[in-house]
Formats: sequence, C-alpha cells, structure tokens
Amino acid sequence: TIAGLKAVEVLDSRGRPTLAVTLRLADGRTVRAGVPSGASTGSREAVELRDGDPHRYSGQGVLRAAGNVNGEIQDLLTGRHFADIAAVDRTLIEADATSTKARLGANAVVGVSMAAARAFALLADQPLWRYLAPAGIAARLPVPHFNVVNGGVHAPNRLDFQEFMIAPVGAPSLSEAVRAGAEVYTALRRRLSDKGYATGLGDEGGFAPEIDAPEDVLGLLVDAITEAGYRPGRDGVAIALDPAASEFCRDGLYHVATEKLTSDDMIDRYEAMVRRYPVWSIEDGLAEGDWDGWIRLTERLGPRVQLVGDDLLVTNPAIVAEALDRHAANAALIKLNQIGTVTETLEAMRVGREAGWAQMVSHRSGETEDTFIADLAVATGCGQIKTGAPARGERVAKYNRLIEIEAAGSLPYGLT
Ligand code: PGA
Ligand code: ZN
Repeated sequence: TIAGLKAVEVLDSRGRPTLAVTLRLADGRTVRAGVPSGASTGSREAVELRDGDPHRYSGQGVLRAAGNVNGEIQDLLTGRHFADIAAVDRTLIEADATSTKARLGANAVVGVSMAAARAFALLADQPLWRYLAPAGIAARLPVPHFNVVNGGVHAPNRLDFQEFMIAPVGAPSLSEAVRAGAEVYTALRRRLSDKGYATGLGDEGGFAPEIDAPEDVLGLLVDAITEAGYRPGRDGVAIALDPAASEFCRDGLYHVATEKLTSDDMIDRYEAMVRRYPVWSIEDGLAEGDWDGWIRLTERLGPRVQLVGDDLLVTNPAIVAEALDRHAANAALIKLNQIGTVTETLEAMRVGREAGWAQMVSHRSGETEDTFIADLAVATGCGQIKTGAPARGERVAKYNRLIEIEAAGSLPYGLT
C-alpha cells in the first residue's frame, strides 16, 4: 500500500528543472525516482508538463507537474491495494485520459511509475532488475554504448551528427567493457588535444570538437581505440552512431556540413561509412517523418547493420508494431519517458523482442543520478544500453550500477 507521494522540483544535468518523486510505503520505508528529459525529442513522444511561466526558469518550471503528483495522483493511489506495477500504471493512464499523458504530465506520471516499480521490488525483497524481469526472459548485462563525441543539439559545435558511441562488444565482461570505454575515452582526449581541438564536453559527457565531417570523427575514434590497445570492430570495440537526423532534416533535405542531401544520398553515405569504419549500429539515420527513406535504408543496410529507431518509434508499442509491419528499422531505442510508464515501456520491448528485433535501453540528454535504466536493461536481457560518456556523474551512475549488479551475481554479458 502506498502511504504517500511527494514530488519536488529539482535540477537535471543541464541545469533545467525536473522532478524527484519520493514514494512512502505504509511501513515507513521510502523509494525515489528522478525524471529524465530529452532535447532532441520525437514529435510523437509523451508530453512533459512545463509551467510556461516566463518568470521562472524561462517557462521550464515543473511546479504544476509536481502539484499533480502531490495532489491528484497522491489522492488516487494512496490507501489502495495494487497487485503489481501494471495495476498502478493502468490507474495512472486511465486517470490522465489523454493519449500523450499531457494532462497530468508524462514527467509526473513516469516519476510515479518508476518509484512504484521500486516500491514493489522493495516489498518483494528483490533487486529492481529481478522484479522487472518479464517471465521467461533471462537477465543479461548489456553492452554499454559510450557516447564519446557530441554534436547536434547536445553541443555548441558545428558537428551535425549528435552522437558517436564506442561499444566494447567483444569485451569479456561488463566491468572490462567499462574499462575499455574509459581507456578509449582517455586516448581520444589526448588525440583531440594533440590535434589542437578543444576537449570541453557536451550534454552527454562526450567531447565537442569543432569538426565538420562525421567521417573525420570516425577516423579519430578508430585511432583512439587502437591507441588504447583494443581492436576496432565487433570482436573488440565497435562504433555506433546516432545522427538524430530529424534535427538536421529541413524541407525534405538533410543538411550535413555544407551539403544538402536526399534520403538516398544519406543511405549511400552511411553505406560508405559502414564499409570504411567499424560502425555496427546507426540510430535515427533518417528523420522521423521519412518512412519511405527508412524502408529503403532498412532494405539496403539492414542485413549488415543494426538500424535503431528512436524519434521514429518513441518507445510506443503501436508504432513499433507499425514499423515491424512496414519493415522500417530493425531495432528500437527504449526510453521510459517517451511513453510515460514502466508497463508500456516493457510492452514496447516485448513487441520488438517477439519479432526478433534488438533493443537498446537509453538515458536522455537531461538526466539525474537515477539508475533505473541500468536495471531495466539487465531485466529485459536486451543486451544493449546507452547512457553517455564514461564521465559525468549522472552518466557514470548508470555504468557503476551495472558494475554493482555484475559483482553481486553471475549474469552473462553481451549482445543477445
Ligand atoms: P535526447 O537525445 O535525450 O536529447 O532526446 C538522446 C537521443 O536522441 O538518443
Ligand atoms: Zn536518438
């Protein structure tokens, strides 16, 4: 039984307001959840409730969302018996009564849902990952995808692609993967600074050098991987991209540095990158509205490369089902706050998993110290997580949580 709920307006990693939700159980124990927030959001995501009061945080305050937790949601949930997280989430979804959680706020709803899942785990005396594990799914430590170069809307540099990640696919364990990530990150910092680039950080902890061409970044990554003593590729440290192409697609053309490219030009460009560099995964390579392009991209590169839908799919089970139907993408990015409840997130993962899709659990560019996604990735056995650079507290917290889960038991590591 939930005895009380309290949401407070706190800061996220970008210094913008977000919610911290505390749930109190009848026996007095408490659990917390921190709510993440994106910058390159998909248009079909669940809607964050922001105050719009220009005198506070440029309109970005979340006092109304906090008020909804402390008022309506608390009244709705306290003193009642719920059998599981699905029952809590159903109640929240029905009470909100919009398709995008716009009334109560997806930020309010997801914070309560995450805290409630933690409460059930506590009551069951289980680690969160064990409570979240769907029946019949073997838990697994995911391959971390460290975002080591930031561009797009996550950094003030002129690089159009948003994320360049390194993935120690060939590491023997999670902790060795973290070591590889940190060592390559250090080698990359040295290389950038030797070449005269600034080594300041973007929103997700990656470096934000003034480089124009994505291929130049890929070259630097291969050098850094090699210099750190690893093999570039799937048997060592591979590369994953998230261009977040919705952000540089205007009037049907993709604006990369000084070029204006069609969808087919972009597909050619990716094909060349995949041929020349050890790129194993491309997320949001095309814009969320470019379904025809996505279908051609999947046909051309799908057999060789993981093509992850983020803005395209927004962790929405119905949209994942549509993409399966249309053969667009072959993997899903998974973000709790894109859909707004733990139960719907697990449902989106089920739909993809049962169709044989890979999935990658993800942080947002605006984060807190909350480590829920580490447990979610382990629970669902999906084999992949991205949660930023191996630097900055809010990113490292997730990787450290994975190390602790690894140390506590004997779970397998790696892609499924
Ligand atoms: P966001 O970026 O959290 O700013 O949306 C992450 C991503 O695009 O994967
Ligand atoms: Zn993305």
